[in-house]
Amino acid sequence: MSQYRIAVVVGSLRKDSFNRQLARALEPLFPAGFTFEHLRIDDLPLYNQDDDGSPAAAVTRLRGEVKAAQGLLFVTPEYNRSIPGVLKNAIDHASRPYGQNAWAGKPAGVLGVSVGAIGTAVAQQHLRNVLAYLDVPTLGQPEAFIQQKEGLFDAQGRIGEASSKFLQAWVDRYAAWVQRHQS
Ligand SMILES: Cc1cc2nc3c(=O)[nH]c(=O)nc-3n(C[C@H](O)[C@H](O)[C@H](O)COP(=O)(O)O)c2cc1C
Repeated sequence: MSQYRIAVVVGSLRKDSFNRQLARALEPLFPAGFTFEHLRIDDLPLYNQDDDGSPAAAVTRLRGEVKAAQGLLFVTPEYNRSIPGVLKNAIDHASRPYGQNAWAGKPAGVLGVSVGAIGTAVAQQHLRNVLAYLDVPTLGQPEAFIQQKEGLFDAQGRIGEASSKFLQAWVDRYAAWVQRHQS
């Protein structure tokens, strides 16, 4: 059976992040053969082009993890109608040095949960714009704009009943799309 390693990038550093909970709760919905690596982004320095020739160990690690992945899963909050700076910092790091963009060609899923009613829609559009430039194909449909509400997760941290059908359908589409990209 083919193995698909998915690099998961959560755009929040918050300990009790809803987005990290969402990313974790999606994992059991995937078919066999998918594994998940949460990329650490909280120890990356602020990107500085002067350091391209002598990257910090955390940057080298990030680049290696991205390169080893067959697919990307971005699960991010919306900060002030865009993506959090920590996420953009990580994306910039692995996109450089010029000509060595580690993200290129990796199929990506984009989703997010926020307390606001439009469920990260604007952040996701900004993220898709950045990823398009980096030659990262993103799954277009279904879109997943999720609002944090009582019952989104059950007591065990799984996806609650009200959202499980929708998110299972999202995972099925994304998983099939990652598989198509490998053939
Ligand atoms: C700096 C900042 C900006 C925010 N801006 C938005 C926003 O533009 N849209 C939105 O829906 N929620 C916004 N929020 C609220 C987040 O949706 C909420 O904090 C959410 O829990 C963050 O995701 P997390 O739980 O994964 O950390 C903002 C929160 C912070 C801290």
